[in-house]
Amino acid sequence: MNVLKRCIYGFSILSLALISVQCKGNQKEEKQENTTQKMDSVSIEKKEYGTTPAGQKVDVYTLKNQKGMEVNIMTYGGIITSLKVPNKAGVSEEVAIGFNNLEQYTKPNPYFGALIGRFGNRIANGKFTLDGKEYQLAINNRPNALHGGPEGFHRRIWTAEEAKGGDVASLKLKYVSKDMEEGYPGNLTVFVTYTLKNDNSLDVLYEATTDKKTIVNLTQHCYFNLSSDFTKPILNHEITIDADKLVPVAATLIPTGELKDVTNTPFDFRKPKLVGKEIEAKDEQLKNGLGYDHCWVLNNQDKGERFAASAYDATSGRLMEVYTDQPGIQFYSGNFLDGTLPMRNGGTYARRTGFCLETQHYPDSPNKKDFPTTVLSPEENYKTKTTFKFSVK
Ligand code: BGC
Repeated sequence: MNVLKRCIYGFSILSLALISVQCKGNQKEEKQENTTQKMDSVSIEKKEYGTTPAGQKVDVYTLKNQKGMEVNIMTYGGIITSLKVPNKAGVSEEVAIGFNNLEQYTKPNPYFGALIGRFGNRIANGKFTLDGKEYQLAINNRPNALHGGPEGFHRRIWTAEEAKGGDVASLKLKYVSKDMEEGYPGNLTVFVTYTLKNDNSLDVLYEATTDKKTIVNLTQHCYFNLSSDFTKPILNHEITIDADKLVPVAATLIPTGELKDVTNTPFDFRKPKLVGKEIEAKDEQLKNGLGYDHCWVLNNQDKGERFAASAYDATSGRLMEVYTDQPGIQFYSGNFLDGTLPMRNGGTYARRTGFCLETQHYPDSPNKKDFPTTVLSPEENYKTKTTFKFSVK
């Protein structure tokens, strides 16, 4: 009896000890999980955004970091619907033009926040020749083809895959553009990965492969107003562009083919200059663009990703720097915004209330043999990265 009692007693003590060890283990695990959550300084949240008139479901992803930066990206057009960045008082506010509902994005608009493809900017008369074969693209900007055509990548549904690790949040979007879609040859598989980091930068990584020779020139078409006051023109923003040369255009905004030194012209932004300073100057190029709507030939093209341009708004203190490995950057001062499109909280977007800095190859490259090539062959990988980095000063 005694022996039995002792055995039971001993067994109970052992079980208690085991349970307590296990509990401690669990606590430790829980503790670790909590610490990981705390260290996980970024977040991604997915929500339904709506349904297009064609019945396609659209999601929106919110990427947030710990420094007050937040970006919303939807699967329709890979569009940045909102971008919030702190000002010099630490207040996070909207800096990107956008609408407050999906329906408005599906109606004609000048590519607000959108991913642009297969070919950013204009191709003269929508025509180009590859290996002796002439291709005709849809004309959507008389007499030219613009930004990939009327049903370009900005109006497509992209599939999305989210990833989060450490202090980085990524959204990888995918779209497969079919052979001859919008007139372009080859099935093109495209990935665009947006990555938000804790240094208040947003990377945009573009990747593509094709099964037939084609042309590719992808970009992002966000309109920024760093003051966050979308009723005010961006003329008080100070722009810097690291470019000694410009790609001059003719009246229909197609490059003439020459590259022009910016020295002593309103296009010299090598030192910071207010957009408004010379935008009304008597200048043939400004006349053709109705303001700034040109591609600059970036310096240091052999250096990979490097500083390309910046924009600074003194009232808010916000500075945006653009880094890229691309040869060109289109600085567009929102000249065609005409007060017809609704702002998020009432009112309309008036002329020059937003600007774009679109990293890319030069417009009409397929028809300009001296411009860096935009041809992609099946044995090549298209890969290019642009970073928008925000800070205050
Ligand atoms: C072009 C402008 C055009 C705008 C919106 C910019 O990339 O350079 O000419 O009006 O996009 O379509």
